Amino acid sequence: MRAAHNLLPKDVGPKVPQVVILFGASGDLSQRKLIPGLFRLATQGFIPQCFIVGTALEDISRDEFIKLARNAVDSFYDHPFTEEDWEKFADQIDFVSVQSGPEALRGAVEKAQERCDSAPKLLHYLSVPPKAALASIKTIADAGLVENSRVIMEKPFGTDLESAIDLNKEIHKVFDETQVFRIDHFLGKEPAQNILAFRFANGLFEPIWNRNFIDHIQIDVPETLEVAGRSDFYEATGAYRDMVVTHLFQIMAFVAMEAPTALAPGPISEEKNKVFRSMVPIQPDDVVRGQYGEYRDIPGVDIESDTETFIALRCAIDNWRWAGVPFYLRTGKALAEGQRIVSIAFREPPKSMFPEGSGVGTQGPDHLTFDLADAAKVSLSFYGKRPGPGMRLDKLSMQFSMDETGMQRDVLEAYERLILDAMLGEHTLFTTAEGIERLWEVSEPLLQSPPPTRPYAIGSWGPNAIHQLVAPNAWRLPFEREWREPLGEVFDDH
Ligand code: BG6
Repeated sequence: MRAAHNLLPKDVGPKVPQVVILFGASGDLSQRKLIPGLFRLATQGFIPQCFIVGTALEDISRDEFIKLARNAVDSFYDHPFTEEDWEKFADQIDFVSVQSGPEALRGAVEKAQERCDSAPKLLHYLSVPPKAALASIKTIADAGLVENSRVIMEKPFGTDLESAIDLNKEIHKVFDETQVFRIDHFLGKEPAQNILAFRFANGLFEPIWNRNFIDHIQIDVPETLEVAGRSDFYEATGAYRDMVVTHLFQIMAFVAMEAPTALAPGPISEEKNKVFRSMVPIQPDDVVRGQYGEYRDIPGVDIESDTETFIALRCAIDNWRWAGVPFYLRTGKALAEGQRIVSIAFREPPKSMFPEGSGVGTQGPDHLTFDLADAAKVSLSFYGKRPGPGMRLDKLSMQFSMDETGMQRDVLEAYERLILDAMLGEHTLFTTAEGIERLWEVSEPLLQSPPPTRPYAIGSWGPNAIHQLVAPNAWRLPFEREWREPLGEVFDDH
């Protein structure tokens, strides 16, 4: 029997057919995430009918696009499917080159609309670089495809305050804000949403979730991935715009916000935006920028490039809850490990009764750690007594891993979840124009005078200066203790 928590696709998805117009359809994101994600949503019954009209600069035929889509499914789709599933999906795919103009795009969309069993909704997905976003919006307007549609926009939304304001102004000339979905895929990650559940569905932690009990917070997202293959995008973007203004600040808002009045888009955005409004502008002295040794050898990268492939920063949220609590953020490419953690360090006890040499405090403060890996993990590490004579203390931990619950198979990948939400007109996990503009505003001092990039070795944790940035604290990563594998029985949901 299926347990109650399992997703019942037909109940959670949109009720009307969807025609998805995929801009940048032949690009990397489309192949790695969007096509496989749409295939899952369509095949597993989340959407009653799903037609896709791909569009891109290349002048390729429908057949060639279908081949590319099949290749994307073969490479990146990890659920079972039959040839019949594929044939049905492929039959609902079309392709129109941007070079054929807006009329041709309209024609293809109309053809798809005619094949729907009932009146469909349109979903434009703009999987294009920032400089191409406005051209795509103009195409949508020229093709007369604005009405009855929604649009998902990919980040970064502008490159600074001025360009973000301009972009929002231009978007609002064509779309009403209710039609716009600015995607930040970190917010679609199951473990990120679990931060909200953990904080606001329990009475245990919220009372200590403030400056009186918390010493500092780290949001650390090192990646082993290098930049090769994406130099065009990356050289003009860098780690701050690619990861911090988008993903890391959004996660910070989930960690720092007050309890919203309801689990609904308005109240959640309001609380997140209050966090952003309380942020102190980022000062260059609080930032370490880095660039890995071989970055400048990548074809397409300037030999004198100053683009950062690594960034670590100290931020402050100057409100009643967080005044005086530093938030340390770090992310970068070509680092030692791929991790996504949020670590909350609690204040140490004011006095210790334990004798010198007992080990208390020697392994940092007690911590609560959220691991935002695909299978969410949470751990609480604390000092406890080592069994045996005397009073020796060790750092121990209570660990929870979603993998051990049997519920992990229900997870929707972040893009799947967010595409489904956009189809439902559900804005809760999307970012707002106001929030984004404020983040660019607090970024101004850093963007105007960025500190020089410091070199770091591939496979390291970044330039040495990162240690001074957090002193007298220390980075939580690399973990001192590995995640403990379960010893006992794995729970099942039956
Ligand atoms: C993307 C960035 O938004 O997020 C990439 O452009 C980064 O540079 C990626 O690698 C990380 O996302 P995930 O889901 O793989 O952690």
